[in-house]
Amino acid sequence: MSRAEPEPPPEGGSGSRVTVEAPSNIALVKYWGARNLEEGIPENRSLSMTLRKCVSRCTVEVLETEREDEIRRISAAGETRPAAEEFAAPVARHLDRIREWAGEEGGFRVATRNSFPTGAGLASSASGFAALTAAATGALGVEAPAEELSVLARRSGSGSAARSLFGGFVEWPRDGGEDGFDPEAPAGPFAGPDHWDLRDVIAVVDPNPKKVSSREGHRRAPTSPHYPTRLRLLRERTREVRRAVLERDMARLAPAVEEETVEMHMVAMTSRPPVWYWAPETMEVLQAVRALRAEGVGACYTLDAGPNVHVLCEGSREEEVAARLSALPAVERLIRDGVGGGPVRSDDHLF
Ligand code: PMV
Repeated sequence: MSRAEPEPPPEGGSGSRVTVEAPSNIALVKYWGARNLEEGIPENRSLSMTLRKCVSRCTVEVLETEREDEIRRISAAGETRPAAEEFAAPVARHLDRIREWAGEEGGFRVATRNSFPTGAGLASSASGFAALTAAATGALGVEAPAEELSVLARRSGSGSAARSLFGGFVEWPRDGGEDGFDPEAPAGPFAGPDHWDLRDVIAVVDPNPKKVSSREGHRRAPTSPHYPTRLRLLRERTREVRRAVLERDMARLAPAVEEETVEMHMVAMTSRPPVWYWAPETMEVLQAVRALRAEGVGACYTLDAGPNVHVLCEGSREEEVAARLSALPAVERLIRDGVGGGPVRSDDHLF
């Protein structure tokens, strides 16, 4: 069988493309509310698990001088389209930051593709901006350490992108000490991808983009009367979640992660005006997870800024969990993922 020749890159570019595939991540302790939203400086430390299959691929090429940025999106079906304004504008702003950071002026040609639904609380912006940051700096010929890219990525408007520069179990900020909290420090791993075979069975109940962005959620968080209490309780809970991961202890992890999820969403729901990400179908999945646990199956739920439910369990329990969830009328489909590594360069360019 003869393979089609790869298409030559489009006109106007330098001819040298860099493609990076970066992972999404699911927060075990959430980033919710910022000290400085523009700079992506969080109010609290967050912890996450990097995913393996939910990834964004991004190809970047530096254009000849005087040319403007060209931003394209590739659909799940493989169709390439110029990105709509609401997608292109934050990408263009992030390209400006990268230009400023690198002291460069030229335009970029960018194409991105996600392996999973975009904007539905599945952290597509985290993986997308991590991939964009690594690919654009790479296309400029700058080899920056992951910590520096993490700080650059968190300024994208998606703070959690700071965590998608690393594999395994990640904390942000990672500033060395348990108690010394430096909100401006980059993210970094506290356990590697092979540390614990945790799975994330994502029950997709609504694949459509969310109506209120997480950025708006962060902005409103301090208007909730419960926000100060959340911040006070987080110190101890973060320690508990980190310890549960380090000891691979599902019985310790499950209540702490669920408590954290409900509390973050309670702050969102009691913000002024309120932000509701939960759908009726979300509740059905939460009930099913509680029933599984009552039967002795170690599983717990968590949600980012959307109605879809991430169900965490150990590898030995994945089949059982997936079978139960896929039988629920509320669940449109499952995405079954596990712990992944950090961003990787690829020769499989998108143009
Ligand atoms: O990365 P952002 O700014 O889109 O915010 C992420 C918010 C949550 O997903 C709800 C929590 C988190 O830490 O990922």
